Amino acid sequence: MAVPHFLTLFDLPADEIKQLVRRAIELKALQRQGKIYEPLKNQVLGMLFEKSSTRTRVSFEVGMIQLGGNAVFLSPRDTQLGRGEPLEDTARVLSRMVNCLMVRTFSHSMLEHFAAYSQVPVINALTDSYHPCQLLADIQTYFEHRGDIQGRTVAWIGDGNNMCQSYINAACQFDFQLHIATPTGYGPDPAILQIARERVQIMAEPQEAVRGADLIVTDVWTSMGQEQEKHRRLQDLADYQVNSELMSLAKRDALFMHCLPAHRGEEVSAEVMDSSQSVVWDEAENRLHAQKALLEKLLVGGPL
Ligand code: CP
Ligand code: NVA
Repeated sequence: MAVPHFLTLFDLPADEIKQLVRRAIELKALQRQGKIYEPLKNQVLGMLFEKSSTRTRVSFEVGMIQLGGNAVFLSPRDTQLGRGEPLEDTARVLSRMVNCLMVRTFSHSMLEHFAAYSQVPVINALTDSYHPCQLLADIQTYFEHRGDIQGRTVAWIGDGNNMCQSYINAACQFDFQLHIATPTGYGPDPAILQIARERVQIMAEPQEAVRGADLIVTDVWTSMGQEQEKHRRLQDLADYQVNSELMSLAKRDALFMHCLPAHRGEEVSAEVMDSSQSVVWDEAENRLHAQKALLEKLLVGGPL
């Protein structure tokens, strides 16, 4: 039987992905009530990070502990991967020792290559192309504040990066309309857009994209690995800041999300980040609950 990996939001059928979000809400409630639920006793998650992380690392590690299991942090700095051991050999070895592997890396094809050699489920914890775990948390957060996202309109403003591309996948899986406004040269991959033609509209101006939107989302202008382009990016994206003026053109009850870390004064103004429309702290917390639901599904098939 094929190993069930979670490399993009398309790795699960839409109904199962929606069920994951509902389950995350249940697990959050259990946690709030102080109930002990440990379906992953004796199971271990290997966490391989080739880029920095605060939320992803802590939420996966804490999630495993809360579900009764454990997690091992690995990075190229202190494994043989950093000294040239091939990725496929690393995947073969690690997957004989742990029950699940979570990988944060650069190219998405590197992750696919790794997964092809793993005997246990591999979870995408961010590549240059996608961040599917963040989307589970974002959809959960929208649901908690406003109900089902189906049929709603989301505006993506700024860089057409890994988060934007996961929003494109989410538009298909959760059935919402996505407006994308990016400067020329910063748009998402046309091949990814192609799959979501009916649900995505590319708009020239951020003002046009946010009109009628229920949710406004942005992300850093310089993603990890693009540090050398920072100066140029700041200039090119300067007109794409999510600020109060832009928010005022969206629906009155529109929410603001950002996967974090954020740069106040760049992609988002401090005023919007800290406004009552901003749900970024719930969004960050929900990484924990959403990933617990994902781990439960991949490791024991669902609620026990
Ligand atoms: N949003 C997110 O993935 O944050 P980290 O980079 O801190 O994990
Ligand atoms: N787009 C950002 C997301 C960080 C969670 C990056 O790739 O650095």
